[in-house]
Amino acid sequence: MGTSSATTTTYHNFIDGAWVPSVSGDLFEDRNPANSDEVVGVFQKSTAADVADAIDAARLAYERWRLVPAPKRAELLFRAAQLIAERKEALARDMTREMGKVLDETRGDVQEAIDMTFFMAGEGRRQYGQTVPAEMRDKFAMSVRQPMGVAAIITPWNFPMAIPSWKIIPALVCGNTVVFKPATLTPLSALNFVKILEEAGIPRGVVNLVTGGGGNVGNAMLVSDTIRIVSFTGSTEVGRTVSEAAAPSFKKVHLEMGGKNVVMVMDDANLELAVEGCLWGGFGTTGQRCTAASRVVVHEKVYDAFLEQFVSRARALRVGDGLDPMTQVGPSVSQGQLDTVMKYVEIGKDEGARLMCGGRRPSGSVYTKGYFFEPTIFADVSPSMRIAQEEIFGPVVSVIPCRSFDEAVAIGNGVQYGLSASIYTQDVNRAFAAMRDMYTGIFYINAPTIGAEVHLPFGGTKATGNGHREAGTAALDVFSEWKSVYVDFSGRLQRAQIDAQEI
Ligand code: UN1
Repeated sequence: MGTSSATTTTYHNFIDGAWVPSVSGDLFEDRNPANSDEVVGVFQKSTAADVADAIDAARLAYERWRLVPAPKRAELLFRAAQLIAERKEALARDMTREMGKVLDETRGDVQEAIDMTFFMAGEGRRQYGQTVPAEMRDKFAMSVRQPMGVAAIITPWNFPMAIPSWKIIPALVCGNTVVFKPATLTPLSALNFVKILEEAGIPRGVVNLVTGGGGNVGNAMLVSDTIRIVSFTGSTEVGRTVSEAAAPSFKKVHLEMGGKNVVMVMDDANLELAVEGCLWGGFGTTGQRCTAASRVVVHEKVYDAFLEQFVSRARALRVGDGLDPMTQVGPSVSQGQLDTVMKYVEIGKDEGARLMCGGRRPSGSVYTKGYFFEPTIFADVSPSMRIAQEEIFGPVVSVIPCRSFDEAVAIGNGVQYGLSASIYTQDVNRAFAAMRDMYTGIFYINAPTIGAEVHLPFGGTKATGNGHREAGTAALDVFSEWKSVYVDFSGRLQRAQIDAQEI
């Protein structure tokens, strides 16, 4: 897996069943966002040459792996799920050190990988197709799922193990092989995951890990003719370039991108519950979820009461190192992310939104080495402001007043994204109308915008996605193609649509 010096471990790529250094020998550091002096590990800064080796290995391995019966592939995945479960605590600690979110949440992230791996392993025995009567006598018709080949998996840093599992495990159970490029900010969790797949007995070449930046590693995967499917989670901006780079070779492209999710608080809402939900949805994971509740639209009748509670509860959130059990909000993942947060706070102020709390880095010596920022609430935000339209990916929530349910829905839908939305109301009619009218991939009633479970489809509309869904059985549709099979056992030529059948 790597070599250790007194202070840091240098980790390797995993190609064709072996842990190997990159061809160039270049390296990069993985640092703790709560204390940027701490190097979590040193990783391979790979180039197109490493990607080429990984793709070759995956292409060769595919020829055998595709023929392993799906229930047998699944047995290895069940074993992997078990191993992740056994190591949950250590995996969560590594994740908090490299990504910053609090331990409870990194445990949740690892749990999501366990859930997905068990769920998808079960799909090894459920890759159902259809059998239907053919229109000709003595002819049989059916459809079967078939694997596609080598899958390129490109994952973000905010769910360093859950999201890789959402992609890699369904890819494998369907019979594909994988070249995996994790985010450069969270390579250790990716490596831990791949190591477990290795230990579970996944044959050599079936899963390959290549660490490094998108410009080198990602792009080399996108332009390869061998790769047949790309699954990417990240920003809408990068998703567009992924789509464009993959287009000339007609790869299947699965994109999961930005969000500007909304919680709608109606005048009949249980306000305490709504406040609780908005705190968790807005500031959980330091706001660094695609599903984060970065907009809260509140009915004018309860606006002041909601705001007062929301702000006082946000002020009381404890910011700090995610390894400290007292911490509720960890740091942003990087200086770049913190810069984005600070930029949007300035934009919000310039736009005339009312800064209610936060808006600055916390003071005190414990905070100086990490990318900490106070939970920030803007009130009196108008729907067209940039802070109400653009994804910030940090602990910044915009509260927007509205006069009616219809206006809330219009504001809720009035962004370029369509991942998740939620409503707090006691009125079943409003709840169902909102469920129907919010044009998002995920919708919650009396719960915040985060909290998706692995056995239902995950993804969004408009600039959030390109029509696919991951998780649930929908993931099988991303990682397999249908083959329709006709068996004519009449012993003669029967022409569909032309030869009349006797009744
Ligand atoms: C993401 O933000 O990219 O529903 C994934 C949730 C989590 C997954 C979030 N289960 O918030």
